[in-house]
Amino acid sequence: MIQFDEKNSIFKIDTAGSSYVMGLADNEYLGHVYYGEKLSDTRLSYLLGMDVNPFTPKQKIGEKVSFMDCFPLEYPTQGLGDFRESCLAVRRSNGQEQAELIYKGYKIYKGKPTLAGLPATWGEDSETLEIILTDAVAGLKVTLFYSVFEGMDALAKSVTIENIGEETVYLTKVLSSSLDIRPGSYELLSLHGSWARERHMNRREIGYGSMGIETCRGISGHQENPFLAVVSEGTTQSYGEVYAMNFVYSSNFTAKVQKNQFDHIRAVMGIHPEHFTWKLSPGEVFTAPEVVLVYSGEGLGKMTRTYHEVYRNHLIRSEWKDKMRPVLINNWEATYFNFNTEKLLDIARTAKEHGIEMLVMDDGWFGYRESDNSSLGDWIVNEEKLQGGLKYLVDEVHRIGLKFGIWFEPEMISPDSDLYRAHPDWALHCEGRVPGQARNQLVLDLTRPEVADYIYDSIATILRSADIEYVKWDMNRPLSDIGSSYLPSDQQGEIMHRQMLAVYHMQERMLKEFPKLLLENCSGGGARFDPGMLYFSPQFWCSDDTDAIERLIIQEGTQLVYPLSTIGAHVSDCPNHTTGRVTPFSTRGDVALSGTFGYELDITKISESDRKEIPGQIEKFKKYNPLIVSGDYYRIASYQDNHDYDCYQIVSKDKKKSIVTFVQVHAKPNAKKRYIRLCGLQPDLYYQIGEEIYMGDTLMKAGLPIPVVFGDYKSMIFELNQLNK
Ligand code: DGJ
Repeated sequence: MIQFDEKNSIFKIDTAGSSYVMGLADNEYLGHVYYGEKLSDTRLSYLLGMDVNPFTPKQKIGEKVSFMDCFPLEYPTQGLGDFRESCLAVRRSNGQEQAELIYKGYKIYKGKPTLAGLPATWGEDSETLEIILTDAVAGLKVTLFYSVFEGMDALAKSVTIENIGEETVYLTKVLSSSLDIRPGSYELLSLHGSWARERHMNRREIGYGSMGIETCRGISGHQENPFLAVVSEGTTQSYGEVYAMNFVYSSNFTAKVQKNQFDHIRAVMGIHPEHFTWKLSPGEVFTAPEVVLVYSGEGLGKMTRTYHEVYRNHLIRSEWKDKMRPVLINNWEATYFNFNTEKLLDIARTAKEHGIEMLVMDDGWFGYRESDNSSLGDWIVNEEKLQGGLKYLVDEVHRIGLKFGIWFEPEMISPDSDLYRAHPDWALHCEGRVPGQARNQLVLDLTRPEVADYIYDSIATILRSADIEYVKWDMNRPLSDIGSSYLPSDQQGEIMHRQMLAVYHMQERMLKEFPKLLLENCSGGGARFDPGMLYFSPQFWCSDDTDAIERLIIQEGTQLVYPLSTIGAHVSDCPNHTTGRVTPFSTRGDVALSGTFGYELDITKISESDRKEIPGQIEKFKKYNPLIVSGDYYRIASYQDNHDYDCYQIVSKDKKKSIVTFVQVHAKPNAKKRYIRLCGLQPDLYYQIGEEIYMGDTLMKAGLPIPVVFGDYKSMIFELNQLNK
C-alpha cells in the first residue's frame, strides 16, 4: 500500500513486511526518512532530523549549503552543497553543471508503467508512486518511480529526466537509486569474480569514505555482478538487517556506498557515468534503468527468497519460465570447433537412447570458423561441415526424437570475415586508431540502425530456415574503442547505453517473431548474469567452469539473488576442462540439478559406467525439478566458508516436500556423523526420509543425520515427504 500523509508531508510505501518512507522539508526538498521493518504510523517527519539541525533554507538561508551537506536527499544532485555521492549531473549550454530538484507533486496508481526500451519488473498486482521534482533553471522535470508488488518485500525504483526547458542539456550522470542509511556497523556484500570464477561472495567492512563496485566493460561482467547489499555486522542467513539492490541492466554500472562525517551511509546505484553523456533536447525524455531493492530484517536467506519470488513472478516473461526445460546436450566441451553433421547425429542418437531431449549445436557452424579467429558476422551455414545443410541436420535430429538448439554471437564481428571486409566501419572504433581485438574479434556498432537490422535479419533467416527450438545468445568480449562513425560528436557519449538498448531491442524482436523460442543468454560463461537479461531469457549460462566443486561456490553466489530455474548448469566430462579435477559423475549430476540441468560432454566417448548413470540422473531431474524451480531456497552450509562441505535445501511452498543436497568436498579421517539443522519445515508435522521418520521441529533444531562417507567430492540428496497428520 502507498500513501501520502499531507499533514505530515510523508510518503509511505508499505510491502508485506517493510516500509519505505520519504518526507518533505520546506515542502520543497524530498528527503529519505526510513527503510526497514514495517511501520504502522505516518507521523515520521521527525526522522528527517530537522529539529536537530533547524536550518532548512527557508528557516536560515545563511546555512543552505550546510543543510544540503547533511539532508538525506532522496535523489541527490551535484553542485549545490550535497558533497556526498550524487545521482544526477547536468551540463547546460553555458557549461555549468548543477541541478536543484524541488518537489512539485505526486501520483499514486494501480499497476506499473513500462520503461521505454528497457527491461523492467512488471505485474498487474503492482502499485506505483510517482514523485515529480523540477529544476526551473536547468529546465528539467525529474520523475521518481516507486513500485511494489502484492506480498513481496521488494521495491522497484526508476527515474525519468525530461527536458522541459528551451535549451539542449547534456546529462553526464543519471543514477537510478540512492538510499541513506542511519549510522551503524555495516558491511558491504557483493558478488565478485573473473572468467570461470563468477559471483563469489565478497564481504567487507564499510569504513569512512566511498567504496563499491562497478564495470565499464559494456557488459555487467564476470568481475562484479550488479548486486550490492549493505548488511548489519554479523548478518547470517537468518539474522541481521539487509538492504539489497540489484540493477535491471546489463551494461556499465556503478554501485557505491559512502560513510560520511556523521556516520551516515549512502548507497547509490545506476549507469556508470564514465563513457556516459546523453544529449537531451527540449521535449526529450531519458529513462534510467530500474533498481530492485529488497529489505530483510531476518538475514540473507529472506532476501534471497524475496528476489527469487520477485524475479520468478515479476521479471522473467518467457513462456518457459514455469515450464520444465528439456534436458539438453551441448557439443561445446564435447567437440569444440571440430564437428560435422555425422558427429552431431552420433551424439544425438546416443543422447536419445539415454533420455536426453535436446541437442544444442554450439560455436563453429557458420562461415569458415574452425577456431575463434574468424567468421563472426557471417551467419551463413558452413555446408562443408554441416553436409546436407542446417535443415537436414535439424530434421534428422527431430527424427531421432530430440529438439534442436543453436548458438549465435550476434554482437560481434571478426576482422577475418566477409562482413568486416565489406564494412570495416561497422565495428566500434575511434577515428585514427586501430580497434583493439579480444578473442580475435571486434564489437559491432549497433548504434547504427542498419547494422542491428542486418544482424537481426541474418539470425532470423537461420531461425526461419529450420525448426529450431532454442537459441544460446553468446557475447565473448568487453567493449572497447568506444567510437561510432555514425553518431555525431556530441552523441559519442551515448554509445555504451545505445549499444545495450540495441541488444535489448534485437532480443525483443527475436522473441516477438519466435515467441516459443527458449532463449539462453550467455557471455563467456556468466558475464551477463543480471536481471536485465532475465527479462528476455528465462535462463543464463552460469559459468564456463563446469567443475562440480567450483560450481558449488559459483552457484551459491548466483543463487544468493537469482532463482535456481535461471541457472544454466551441465554435467561435463572429467578431468574437468577448466580445473583438471576429477569428481564422481553422480556428484556432477547432483550439483547440476540445482540449475537448468543438461550435459556438456561427448556422450559417445565417456565411460560406459558414467553413461549408464544418465537415465537415473534424468529421472531425478524430472522428479525434483518442479520443486527446485518453485520452492523456497535455504542455504544451510557453505563450502566457500567452511572449506569442507556444502549444503542447501529447497522446501515446497506448502512445506510438504523438501530436498536437501549435501556435498562432502573433503573427507576427514576419524570423522563422526554430522547433524545438519534444516530450515523452513512445518515444526509440528512429521517427515519421512528414506525409512526414517522425524518431526519437523527436531530436524530444524537437532538436525538431520548425515552418514560418514569415504572420499572427497561425494554428494547425497535427501528427499523429505511430510506425513499426513
Ligand atoms: C563461451 C561460452 O560460455 C561457451 O559455452 C561456448 O559457447 C563458447 N563461448 C563458444 O565460443
